[in-house]
Amino acid sequence: MSRLEGLTAIVTGAASGIGLGTARLFAEEGANVVLADIDEQLLKQEVDNLQSEGLSVTRSTLDVTKKEAWAHTVQCALNTYHKIDILVNNAGIHRPDKLLDTELDVWHNVMDANATSVFLGMQQTIPHMQQLGKGSIINIVSVAALTGSGAAAGNGTAYSASKGAVRALTTHAANHFAKDQIRVNAIFPGPIKTPIMGERQKTIAERNKDVVPLPPYYGEARDIAYGALYFASDESRFVTGDELVIDGGSVR
Ligand code: NAI
Repeated sequence: MSRLEGLTAIVTGAASGIGLGTARLFAEEGANVVLADIDEQLLKQEVDNLQSEGLSVTRSTLDVTKKEAWAHTVQCALNTYHKIDILVNNAGIHRPDKLLDTELDVWHNVMDANATSVFLGMQQTIPHMQQLGKGSIINIVSVAALTGSGAAAGNGTAYSASKGAVRALTTHAANHFAKDQIRVNAIFPGPIKTPIMGERQKTIAERNKDVVPLPPYYGEARDIAYGALYFASDESRFVTGDELVIDGGSVR
């Protein structure tokens, strides 16, 4: 039996990488999926592709930092599939700037895309989940929230801080909305080979050999998608506020 049969999911940042892998897996498992992303062109291309395979998916252009855009995507899900069971807050950006070099606009951009986005996504979808009487929210964080990302080198100051905010937001919302049967869980990916890494994708194995014990020393989008699938399905009905680290063993 399909693990998400009859459920509707919104996945943000779904035109690429982890979001696309998660949207595909959810649809393969029987969900109706709204793929949402700021990159309209890539989004159309990927959704056309999934639809041509017979999967139940649609698209909604979304800038996760904008409240009005969120309202539009939520309406798209309700108009097309009549309810929202699952939200995957996945969209995000990375900037390598170190603390002493981080311009204020870079700080704000990263906080908006990675943290404010999750706040807005929860604010816009939870009332509909409350009406439905249940829901599952999955926040894609990062091991950067646990390690301070490139801590020794000092890279990614705003990125680490934004992911730390999402970690706390996950626990906060999990506690508060458990009474409504809305579960909120977080996944902490380690190095995953996706376009967010840019050119660094090519050398990912060599760069991570010393910190990731498990070969091939990096993950693929599908490795994170399988974790999200567990949190999305009723198999995790007694699980909320959980922190699932998927990183090849590097943070332990
Ligand atoms: P990616 O770059 O392949 O995909 C990110 C997607 O988010 C893109 O399609 C992009 O257009 C979209 N996006 C960016 N800003 C947006 C906005 N304002 N509104 C809507 N969509 C927007 O990156 P990847 O690797 O798939 O990242 C997904 C999530 O996983 C991010 O939150 C990232 O921080 C997290 N993550 C990734 C890791 C990795 O090694 N790839 C490690 C840890 C966490």
